[in-house]
Amino acid sequence: MALKTLEDLFVHFLRDIYYAEKQILKTLPKMARKAESEQLRDAFEHHREETESQIENLEKVFEMLELKARGVTCEAINGIIEEGKDIMSEAESPDVRDAGMIAGAQAVEHYEITRYGTLIAWGEQLGKKDAVKLLKENLEQEVAADKKLTDLAVSALNREAA
Ligand SMILES: [Fe+2]
Repeated sequence: MALKTLEDLFVHFLRDIYYAEKQILKTLPKMARKAESEQLRDAFEHHREETESQIENLEKVFEMLELKARGVTCEAINGIIEEGKDIMSEAESPDVRDAGMIAGAQAVEHYEITRYGTLIAWGEQLGKKDAVKLLKENLEQEVAADKKLTDLAVSALNREAA
């Protein structure tokens, strides 16, 4: 797709995050199964449910734009997920695996936060108020998920130090 206007870029990034969310939806159950800490498992399961609603929000945005919902391969998220898988399989203890999964999940959240931040800014500029509202909902969930992961990482480190 030729990117001539801000609107084209907006649609491109929308497809990018749509693809990313779908990859994440597939990956979260695997991470939940591997989590040793119950709180971490719950966090991954909860975020999987949120991700489903985020995908629905994105589908509503596509509908508002009168476009078919479809993704475009996002090599960035593929790379982050691949790296996370390597760490999961190389970790030799459950605690180390949990710490590695938290780091990987936070990299995912930060990627999503940057994408939603950009989409919201462009959406505002393009006057897409209803779309921006839905994108903000998704962004807020990502920010909260990231904060929860930080809290889990800190409490795990404190446990280890004690
Ligand atoms: Fe997400």
